[in-house]
Amino acid sequence: MNKTYTILNYGCQMNESDSEHYAGQLSDLGYHYTEDFHEADVILINTCCVRESAEKKILGKIGEMKAVKAKDPHKVLCVTGCMAQKDGEDFLKTYPQVDLLIGTAHVNNFKAILQEYLAEKNRKAGIYNDLTIMPQEFEGHFVRKSEYAAWVPIMYGCNNFCTYCIVPYVRGRERSRSAEAICEEIRKAVALGYREFTLLGQNVNSYGKDRGEANAFAQLLRQVDRIPGVERVRYMTSHPRDMSEELIKAVAESRHVCKHFHIPVQSGSTRIMQAMNRGYTRESYLELVRRIRSYVPNAVLTTDIIVGFPGETEEDFAQTMSLFDEVRYDAAYTFIYSKRSGTPAAAMEDQVPEAVKKDRMNRLMELQNKHRLKHNQELVGKTLPIMVEGLSHNNKQMWSGRTDGNKLVLWPVGDRIFNPGDVVPVTIEKAQTWLLKGRAEL
Ligand code: 5AD
Ligand code: SF4
Repeated sequence: MNKTYTILNYGCQMNESDSEHYAGQLSDLGYHYTEDFHEADVILINTCCVRESAEKKILGKIGEMKAVKAKDPHKVLCVTGCMAQKDGEDFLKTYPQVDLLIGTAHVNNFKAILQEYLAEKNRKAGIYNDLTIMPQEFEGHFVRKSEYAAWVPIMYGCNNFCTYCIVPYVRGRERSRSAEAICEEIRKAVALGYREFTLLGQNVNSYGKDRGEANAFAQLLRQVDRIPGVERVRYMTSHPRDMSEELIKAVAESRHVCKHFHIPVQSGSTRIMQAMNRGYTRESYLELVRRIRSYVPNAVLTTDIIVGFPGETEEDFAQTMSLFDEVRYDAAYTFIYSKRSGTPAAAMEDQVPEAVKKDRMNRLMELQNKHRLKHNQELVGKTLPIMVEGLSHNNKQMWSGRTDGNKLVLWPVGDRIFNPGDVVPVTIEKAQTWLLKGRAEL
């Protein structure tokens, strides 16, 4: 058999991880990867619906598949992930070219679903989007994109219901994997040469709560930190409200957990934070920042921020700008508020006009870029441990790698050959907004 598959992945790290689970199952069934969807027997589109812009792009792609399927009806088109979860039956009606719709809790049942689908003579499109189940443990072989960095889901779902966010509706309630399963997966990946592990969940600070465990995430971090061969541990995403002192201590005291805190603030105005149902205030958030910096003085701090949430006034936005000046983030992921139907914020009055949102976005990005450059300039002259990614995509004369705080560093190719995942001391010589350049001390 010489069957092929392709995966078009959209969205967050959790989706990237899910795509690797899909790829593993397809590979276990004997399928080979191809980049070209015209060639592929199975086309899988792993979708995201966090913002309208993502959805539009994906719907365009699914539209494009109509002609591809018309030409070759034997192809199997699978739409997976958050849009599949959200739109279910309606989706199949609107897009008859779709054969399988697979929601977010069925990722690891894919192999069985596909086999059953292919075995049926009168094939009918199928929907698998029951959100109440605990996703099965993955049994197959991973096909990971990276040779040295692995995503490790530690929990699924979210219980927060921030008023702008669609995620709780498409990922369901919080369900945690067992620490044993997580550590076993990491040990196996270490044996295959993996060195960096990113623990994934929509709200990792709640890890274990559904299993009746308190402070389980801090314990899990300490446990993963001790696994021999683990070089770097990262985690995504934490909720500032739930970031306990225990957790900050665990990060501070562990050897391999990166001193990087991604603490999405979403707005600098307490009034807007409350309308977002974030469960903290500007003051309590700034207190958290102080606590992190008191335990980890050189911590790299990053955030997510939404501009133009309904009702955001110029005064609220000024609070966001001043919070950025107070915290001085190393990096920020900035988003323009996007209305998601079914969420409380979509029904709020005072939606902010597009032009105002864009203008605020530009002002915030300009400010953030200044902070970012300043942070980077402070690293000039320092020698930092850099984990090698490989040769730079844009310049094969340079190696590329990441600092502990996940900043991109380039240094010239010399006599030494590095492998992805090696850690190399690099002295930073030049700082730009998006990039550091240096020389290897080896
Ligand atoms: N509009 C804009 N940004 C959003 N995010 C989540 N929902 C929305 C929305 N409706 C952002 C948040 C979150 C990040 C992953 O996406 O900042 O932290
Ligand atoms: Fe997109 Fe959110 Fe789903 Fe990730 S969890 S794919 S960001 S909608």
